Parts: sequence; C-alpha cells; structure tokens
Amino acid sequence: MFLLERALPAAGRAFLMAAKRYRDGAHRLFHRDAGYLEGRRVRASREMRAMRRRSDFGRNLIAQQWAVAEFAALSRLWAAGAPVPYPIQRVGTELLLEFIGDADGEAAPRLVQLRPGRRELHDLWRQLVDATVLLARGGYTHGDLSAYNLLVHGGELVLIDLPQLVDVVGNPQGLAFLQRDVQAVCAWFRSRGLPDDVADPDGLLELLLGEAGLRSGA
Ligand SMILES: Nc1ncnc2c1ncn2[C@@H]1O[C@H](COP(=O)(O)OP(=O)(O)OP(=O)(O)O)[C@@H](O)[C@H]1O
Ligand SMILES: [Mg+2]
Repeated sequence: MFLLERALPAAGRAFLMAAKRYRDGAHRLFHRDAGYLEGRRVRASREMRAMRRRSDFGRNLIAQQWAVAEFAALSRLWAAGAPVPYPIQRVGTELLLEFIGDADGEAAPRLVQLRPGRRELHDLWRQLVDATVLLARGGYTHGDLSAYNLLVHGGELVLIDLPQLVDVVGNPQGLAFLQRDVQAVCAWFRSRGLPDDVADPDGLLELLLGEAGLRSGA
C-alpha cells in the first residue's frame, strides 16, 4: 500500500488516496486456496497458458487479474451502499482507492488493533452485521473476513481487501467461505467480550443465508 496525494495546486485542492499494488511473485495468490477462482469464467488462451506456466508475463497477468477483480468487487459493493473504500481507478496492477484515515496521512487502525469499550463493541458488531447483510443480499460474502481486513475510522467500520469477494450461490465452495467469514468475526468479537448470544455464529449464518435467498442445509 502507498499513500498518494492528488492535488490541484491552482485551486488549492488536494486529497489523499491509497494505492494498492499487486506484485507478481510475492502475492498470496501463489500459495492461496484455488477455491476462490472456482465459479469464475476462464478462457483457454495464450494468456491462460502463460498464467499456468507462471512466466513473467503470466505472473503479471495474474496480478492484474486480482486488481481487476478487486476493482470490480469494490465498484459493485460501493454502488450497493456497502462501507468500502471508494474505488477511484485501476491502472494495470495498481488500484487507487479512497484513503481511509486522517487528512494528515495517518491511516485508520484495523479492528484487530482496537480494545473497544462495551458500547463501542456493540456498535461495531451492529455495523458488521449490517455490512454482511448488505453483501449477502447481493449474494456475496467477503471471502477473507477478519479483524485484519476491517478498518475503523471515526467509529465507522470499513471493509477492505476484497479481491476474492465470493459469490455464495455460484461458487461451489460459497457456503464454506460464508461459514468461515462468520466464524472469524464472531470469534474476534467474543474474544473482546461481546456476549456469546450476540456474537452467535449460528444466528448470523442463518440470517445471512436468508438474506442471500438460501437456507441452511440448502
Ligand atoms: N483504503 C485504505 N485506506 C487506508 N489504509 C488502507 C486502505 N486499504 C488498505 N489499507 C491498509 O493496508 C493494509 C493492507 O491492505 P489489504 O488488506 O487490502 O492488502 P493485502 O495485500 O491483503 O495485505 P494483507 O496481506 O496485509 O492483508 C490494510 O491492513 C490497511 O491497514
Ligand atoms: Mg488484508
């Protein structure tokens, strides 16, 4: 991640952006569960072969594909009103996003760094439920949800890191990803003292399945 300033000096206007660069070779994709890609349409082509062979060209294409996927996911979720950084543009393997943080360039903390008091904890839980409900209504789950991929800025929860946004219905492992996302956040909220009957994974899963038009066991 890089911090960028875009300025119109003549008008005295400037704003900060977060630049996320997908690097080939170093990115998690190479050792990551291929399950994310299931249910995505891939063409047999020269590009596909290069990606399979992991040539330089292929690796750059993979990095670019993840940038494309994250830009598309953020655009979709932003349009649906979900709390995600506004996606400004994508150029090659780089995404420019709304910077979540202060005007002086201090980034918002990740949820995992916080020790919220009782009221704040309940409030963040409520926001988390609302955000996951919004995703579920569109048929999605984050796919890598945890207290590391949630930022808190001015008391507001923001979902980040969405290249692997999972289609709960279309992806054969969709239900498993949804369950994992639910477990991960419930475990964190419980570890911070939210009562078990509030941060209840079965209850949240049931709610999200309903919102996605599925029922458990379906
Ligand atoms: N829009 C943003 N505004 C401010 N900070 C951000 C923004 N997006 C990401 N960050 C910061 O950069 C970190 C990495 O971003 P992100 O999780 O999207 O990338 P990543 O490649 O998955 O990295 P990691 O493996 O650490 O999760 C985040 O934990 C967060 O602290
Ligand atoms: Mg992350």
